[in-house]
Amino acid sequence: MRLALAAVALALGSRIACGESPPSADDPQVRARAQTIWRERCATCHGLDGDGDGPQGRYLEVKPRRLSDRAWQATVDDQRLRTVIVEGGPAVGLHVGMAPNPDLRDQPAVVEALVRHIRRL
Ligand code: HEC
Repeated sequence: MRLALAAVALALGSRIACGESPPSADDPQVRARAQTIWRERCATCHGLDGDGDGPQGRYLEVKPRRLSDRAWQATVDDQRLRTVIVEGGPAVGLHVGMAPNPDLRDQPAVVEALVRHIRRL
């Protein structure tokens, strides 16, 4: 799995280095990377379906909301979701329990794919 991730990272990196247009959130490799991040990183707290019932979720002081909640979805724009994902909860006035993901700062397509994933929950 780690090897596969490294291969994807390498492929994405080399495409940028070659001066090709930056990868888009529609790129299958980008989507696969976002899915992996969701499963391995986010789902530990948020649960695979975003219901806030991940294995680590129960230990959190502030529980993550059900991300599939349409009423909530309608109140947040994509920019807020991008900021929360990269900068963490405090960047938008939420709890520190929502950890930042600084490694995604220079991977906007992956962040975009994560936002789309959340929108489809
Ligand atoms: C260590 C646990 C943890 C991890 C890992 C985590 N989150 Fe969160 N997340 C939270 C908590 C707790 C909240 C709720 C904070 C609050 O309501 O104050 C939250 C809130 C959110 C929100 C809601 C923001 C809003 O506007 O209400 C989004 C979207 C989100 N997380 C996405 C993600 C994504 C995507 C990942 C993976 C890259 C991730 N989270 C990883 C704990 C986590």
